[in-house]
Amino acid sequence: MTIPATQSGGRAFRRFACFVVFVAVLLVWWGAATTTKQAGMVFADWPLSLGTVNPPGWLEHMIPFLEHSHRLLAKLTGLLVLALFAWAYVRSGKRALEVAGIVLLIALVLGFYIAAGSERLDAGVKQRLLLIALALSALPAGWLVWSWRARGWSLVQKLTALALLMVTTQAILGGLRVTEISNALAVVHGCFAQCFFCVLILVVMVSGEGWGRGGFLGSPAWLRRVRFAGIVLVLIVLAQLVFGASMRHFHRHALPDDGLILTQGRWIPSFEDPMIAFLFLHKFTAFSLLLFVVGMVLRLGGGRANAVIPRLNTPRRHAVAILALIGVQIALGLGVIGTGKSFWVTNVHVLNGLLILAFSFVFAVRALRGIPGGEGNL
Ligand code: HEM
Ligand code: HEM
Repeated sequence: MTIPATQSGGRAFRRFACFVVFVAVLLVWWGAATTTKQAGMVFADWPLSLGTVNPPGWLEHMIPFLEHSHRLLAKLTGLLVLALFAWAYVRSGKRALEVAGIVLLIALVLGFYIAAGSERLDAGVKQRLLLIALALSALPAGWLVWSWRARGWSLVQKLTALALLMVTTQAILGGLRVTEISNALAVVHGCFAQCFFCVLILVVMVSGEGWGRGGFLGSPAWLRRVRFAGIVLVLIVLAQLVFGASMRHFHRHALPDDGLILTQGRWIPSFEDPMIAFLFLHKFTAFSLLLFVVGMVLRLGGGRANAVIPRLNTPRRHAVAILALIGVQIALGLGVIGTGKSFWVTNVHVLNGLLILAFSFVFAVRALRGIPGGEGNL
């Protein structure tokens, strides 16, 4: 599998995309803070908060402030992604009508979800509206799949369209998590945020001038193995996020167990309680991730320099950076347990988890963009 080389963007566009990434980091932090402080259900309605645009007193108390400002920041992010999408299309100089149409369609889908989330409806109407919203969601998603395959759009156009669909989906997931009082949706919301973030990073990468020569350099056999390592790395990190998020949202007020290394005083605990299983799997996956990345650092010899990210110009250097982040993450994870979920330690743990995913994702993209040439061995 390879990612096609398509140059698009421009310096101003790329700077704007970097700004959107920065706002998205803030948003993830804010969401994590909302979860850690148990502020998620402070308003039972959505998209309004207590039936108003800005609920009274939201600036005076920490809990309403966290949840409401998370919602405001999410709206800002949605608008910024919409601007990114429109900008990419305006640059292409065509199909303004289609852009307007798709934006209206997304607004319509969002409207049905919002209506379905209304507290005043009876259960039957609610269910019908939700079904219509689900059916309508297939339209923008279908449009994306069709345009991706059939049109000569640049990669930037395709990715900004994907980011727009993802941010809308994420807002719907956040809203439904509240109106349906669902911990399962909170888990999906937490994990989907990180996937959305990866797409924004890809927009920044693709719109840069170095995209055309962005991959690692090495022999074809070596590149195949680096690609495999990159994909497995991303999958392990994603699994780790799912275990962490499940424990975080289904077992809120305390940790399922306070053992730093052992769980329930054993190396392998009983799996009867799913929360204990998630905690054990989270620790086990952390250890596996550590070993996997140590293996990458030891075996990623060779592979020539790549000018795009000067300090991380070889796969080994890139893997060393990921290893350092994992070291910090393990210390933070032990801190989360040791401090009984201190606000700052827990939030920095979530944020550093995002960084690990981002670095791993960029590694995988650079591997998939690899250019055969030169010697390398894994
Ligand atoms: C649109 C972009 C959005 C992003 C990227 C985003 C991201 C996040 C993240 C990363 C978390 C923390 C999850 C965790 O720590 O496990 C979170 C929590 C939360 N978000 Fe969002 N969010 C967005 C929009 C929204 C919207 C529109 C709402 C509407 C109400 C919302 C409601 C919530 C709630 C209630 C929580 C706390 C969940 C809990 O404690 O169970 N989010 N969000
Ligand atoms: C090294 C790789 C690790 C990664 C990438 C990672 C990532 C994460 C993430 C992203 C979350 C929050 C998930 C979400 O809500 O969206 C989380 C939660 C958690 N992690 Fe880790 N983690 C790692 C290692 C560890 C270790 C070694 C420990 C402890 C020994 C640990 C303990 C925890 C705990 C207790 C939570 C839940 C916090 C809560 O309930 O609020 N983590 N982890």
